[in-house]
Amino acid sequence: MAIKVNEENLEFHLFNDKVSYIFRVLEKSHQLEHLYYGKSIKHRDSYDHLIEREVRPSCNLYEGDHTSSFEHIKQEYPSYGTTDYRYPSHMITNEIGSSITNFTYQSYRIIEGKPSLNGLPSTYVDDVSEADTLEITLFDHILKCTLLLSYSIYTYRPVICRHAQFVNQSQTNIQLNRAMSTSIDFPDNNYEMTYLSGAWARETHVEKQPLTKGIQSIYSSRGASSHIYNPFLALKRPHTTEHIGEVYGFSLVYSGNFLGQVEVDTYQATRITMGINPFQFTWDLKPNESFQTPECVMVYSDTGVNGMSQTFHDLYRQRLVRGFWRDRVRPILINNWEATYFDFDEEKILTIAKAAKEVGIELFVLDDGWFGERNDDTSSLGDWFVNQKKLPNGISGLSKKITDLGMQFGLWFEPEMVCTDTDIFKRHPEWVIQTPNRTASHGRNQFILDFGRTEVVDYIFKMMDDILSTSNISYIKWDMNRYITEPYSTNLHVDQQGEVFHRYILGVYNLYEQLIEKYPHILFESCAGGGARFDPGMLYYAPQTWASDDTDAVERLKIQYGSSMVYPLNSIGSHVSDVPNHQVGRITPIASRANVAFFGTFGYELDITNINEEEKRCISEQVSFYKAKRELIRSGTFFRLLNPFESNEVSWMVVAADQSEAIIGYYKVLSKPNDHYYRIQLKGLDPNQKYVIEERQTTHYGDELMNVGIILAENYTDRANEFWSKKKEGDFSSKLFVLKAIND
Ligand code: DGJ
Repeated sequence: MAIKVNEENLEFHLFNDKVSYIFRVLEKSHQLEHLYYGKSIKHRDSYDHLIEREVRPSCNLYEGDHTSSFEHIKQEYPSYGTTDYRYPSHMITNEIGSSITNFTYQSYRIIEGKPSLNGLPSTYVDDVSEADTLEITLFDHILKCTLLLSYSIYTYRPVICRHAQFVNQSQTNIQLNRAMSTSIDFPDNNYEMTYLSGAWARETHVEKQPLTKGIQSIYSSRGASSHIYNPFLALKRPHTTEHIGEVYGFSLVYSGNFLGQVEVDTYQATRITMGINPFQFTWDLKPNESFQTPECVMVYSDTGVNGMSQTFHDLYRQRLVRGFWRDRVRPILINNWEATYFDFDEEKILTIAKAAKEVGIELFVLDDGWFGERNDDTSSLGDWFVNQKKLPNGISGLSKKITDLGMQFGLWFEPEMVCTDTDIFKRHPEWVIQTPNRTASHGRNQFILDFGRTEVVDYIFKMMDDILSTSNISYIKWDMNRYITEPYSTNLHVDQQGEVFHRYILGVYNLYEQLIEKYPHILFESCAGGGARFDPGMLYYAPQTWASDDTDAVERLKIQYGSSMVYPLNSIGSHVSDVPNHQVGRITPIASRANVAFFGTFGYELDITNINEEEKRCISEQVSFYKAKRELIRSGTFFRLLNPFESNEVSWMVVAADQSEAIIGYYKVLSKPNDHYYRIQLKGLDPNQKYVIEERQTTHYGDELMNVGIILAENYTDRANEFWSKKKEGDFSSKLFVLKAIND
């Protein structure tokens, strides 16, 4: 049992051999006090010696009691207005306009396993022995509102998942203004905050900053988790490295507006909260209705940032991604976007598919431009009918021809969007998210359908279903190319306009769910102008994500390194594209492009009919290599070795679970003359095992490879003249090393 309760003191200890989380019920006020979150500590009957109560000049709850200020009590799910002045976890306004809350302890229950959330994505268990869930019931007697706090601890992972649920048991409406998924008060602020930030075509750049007094936060107010910040943040000790030291990771299983906020108070206590962004959020909770927050996944690591990432990788790969594709290697694909953009016809598509088939590529993906009159980005989104001029045999005809070649066929959709020239827009202008009497701003000439309306979701499902049920489609790329502006729904009451964003994303989840239910074998790849919705919420429905529209190998080093903070390799869509690269104009060797893209779900995004024989041969070899290694890449343990944000050299590796094999990628961005000596110290190998480096045919023990490293400098003793005649590698070079365990 990973949850122990002291019934007398009402203390709760969630623990396994990696992590402990302790809180209690306060004697007088019956609210919850947080006592400890961190590395596993031995269970004892009581932890009341962990209570800290200094006398401070502050407002106190009880007359004559100078230690009852919530400003100085570490809490589980803090409220505002009764002696705590920091940002709270929740805010509720009642019918008299008051926003004071007082949720007091009622009861607890322990559930074997981990119940799923209602209409929201979440991590799960395959067997109830994998986790235990503690549910605490609190009640506000004035509001007549129940608050359920849910804590699930995985038995064998340093993972605790939290969410909250409010149930209105009064006769009147109450308004939720803030409903965070988690809140933790840490006793000190000696942390650096690490997070992922970026923009279109340069997503998931790793940022870190020491905590300072006051508020520091990451957020989205755009309707998608966004390119700007990923819904992830970590607090790490200043001396923590990739492989040593403490880190707390927080990842929100949600694809809409979020907030991850850290507040350091004047006593250096640190409050972290994460959940739906309270900005532009309200929820009108009617009698007997409930509101459930998304799930926040909290990971503790004492093996550095990389240790935290490995926990996220395993959990998300094994217990967030679902269904047919969860444990399967993914097909190598070719996507026509950068090959043709909108300018294609059936003949062109078939020539690309045939050439791709010849080199062993398995899946052809037809991107944007196959429907309506879409010859550029000004029209047709929402008219999900094939463009007969380009594809006279329809999607069903084309998909048949491609599957007859022995390839799978995939199709692009942007289901949430609409252009004004379409059928759907003309018949239902009210289905667009826009504010009456205000400008409706466009993004890429398109508008957003109000997915908060069930009839819209059902209508789009029907249109997609018409195509899916009549064609051989085994993959869908689901794109989303603009953020929400002028948020408003004519379908909602004036008091409910703060619900637009959350209802929207629930509608997106609903459409995914309907499609998955009917087409469980379709592989979904989510995309939002690249990585604007690369989040755990999406992974629950779409096992892989197009990580960025930037396909340049050098830029991808940063994007994929950053993505790997949270997301497993088999969720990171990464393709080899043409040169000069379409986003930055850089020319990189085809080997380096592949050596980067191998560490993800691999594919191509170039006109394979327009390359020379040598490049074709390279592609054929790359495809064979990936096929041979993709199970290892899918299921292996990933280690980041050299950081692209700090150095000209980048390296990472993936090791098989049984340590019998490993692949190391090494990249040198700019070539340097007379440079320093390079060694790559490896990780995760069996120290006593002998390995052969296949590219060199040299053998080494694991301990040598991890402590000395792979030596990249040459030994020119007695052959110094060879140095001068050797062809220099040039910029953007890379090396791949495959290690295989061999018998002594
Ligand atoms: C943005 C995506 O990220 C691209 O890969 C491509 O699908 C285009 N949209 C198509 O419009």
